[in-house]
Amino acid sequence: MKTLKKSDPEVADLIQKEQGRQENTLMMIPSENIASQAVEEALASSLGNKYAEGYPHKRYYQGNEFVDKVETLAIERAKKLFNVPEANVQALSGSPANFAVYTALLSPGDTIMGLSLSSGGHLTHGAARTASDKYFRSIQYDVGRDGFLDYEKIRKLAKKEKPRLIVAGYTAYPQIIDWKQFASIAKEIGAYLLTDISHIAGLIVAGVYPTPVPYADVIMTTTHKTLRGPRGALILSTKKGLSKDPDLAKKINSAIIPGIQGGPHMNTIAGIGVALKEASKPSFKTYGKQVVKNARALAQELVKQGFELVTGGTTSHLILIDLRNKKLLGNTVAEAFEAAGIVLNRNAVPFDPNPPYYPSGIRLGTPALTSRGMKEKQMKMVARFMNLIVADLQKEKEKLGFMIEDEKKRDKRKTLFLKTKSIKAVLSKVKELTRQFPIKKAY
Ligand SMILES: Cc1ncc(COP(=O)(O)O)c(C=O)c1O
Repeated sequence: MKTLKKSDPEVADLIQKEQGRQENTLMMIPSENIASQAVEEALASSLGNKYAEGYPHKRYYQGNEFVDKVETLAIERAKKLFNVPEANVQALSGSPANFAVYTALLSPGDTIMGLSLSSGGHLTHGAARTASDKYFRSIQYDVGRDGFLDYEKIRKLAKKEKPRLIVAGYTAYPQIIDWKQFASIAKEIGAYLLTDISHIAGLIVAGVYPTPVPYADVIMTTTHKTLRGPRGALILSTKKGLSKDPDLAKKINSAIIPGIQGGPHMNTIAGIGVALKEASKPSFKTYGKQVVKNARALAQELVKQGFELVTGGTTSHLILIDLRNKKLLGNTVAEAFEAAGIVLNRNAVPFDPNPPYYPSGIRLGTPALTSRGMKEKQMKMVARFMNLIVADLQKEKEKLGFMIEDEKKRDKRKTLFLKTKSIKAVLSKVKELTRQFPIKKAY
């Protein structure tokens, strides 16, 4: 960053500090990962200067000789990696990509059916106050009391409400989704099936999570989670979807532009191309396998330490801890963990009695730690760190009562956390661990 440091030391300093934060903490937010140096270089390239509204060989601007090749390369790599006949690589991120799919396939006011937020669905799957709810009629399904998808209940609801599109694939669901069940429900009522594999795309590519390709009409994935690319999205049309509607891919392309976007971010598309090439290497399969092995080891140790996990465990990269047996809220625990260098997020649990900003759970995952080379042994250590901190927090809560969870007392809380014995001890262990497993970005 030599040039940036000289021309804008303020921004350079903040970037360096953020790099340091990532280097010195355990990134356990399951939707985060560490993209390679090669991806970062593509992102920071002069491709970002280019306006290229349209698609390869059909643009509204001149000067596309090279960006056409870049986009074609990314499209071809996406098609090959996911084994689908059509791919759009232009969506700016997962949320606009989902909206583009809705507008491509539906008319305003048509019914969509997705998993509720508190059960682990994404905002864009029809949550209240989102565009997916304002411009479409949204019906939400929930997981069962055990935290698992209840396919018969979903089928019943679908038959009653007759959505034109069903979304499967989530933000906070730790288990494997039965795509076949969803395909049969969608078929029964003549609905489209959109599978949102944003969280699990990398696991699918690695062969450790079932692919929805034979079952879905359209697949959407972000590119920056387990897939380990830049922030962006892919919209994939399957053979099944195209046999239902031969214009499907065309409709999706025009839902992106002119539907909801203008010029594509060509630097991001180059970065996506790079990430797709990385994901096609045998080493990515090893990575994906380790992500799941690590999550399983972490889950097992957390259970051993007395944590309650939604669904009892995980078969993916992600774990949802229900803290109600610890009598602590997700926000308090997430803040305390951050003080110790463990970064994850507060999260609702199914049928959460508490509001989303003060929820009963935390969500964590292993994609980024696995990218640093950590294995089961380190996961078990982290689970034990978590237990030490939670035990101390429970004692503090007994002494301090509600103060420990009062949102207005954030600064006081931070001071308290930084003085807490277990947090100080874990912070120094985390520093050791992060030094032992530096971020390498060479995949
Ligand atoms: C399942 C799912 N779909 C869509 C998105 C939206 O992606 P973005 O944040 O890139 O808009 C997310 C992001 O968390 C997600 O988890």
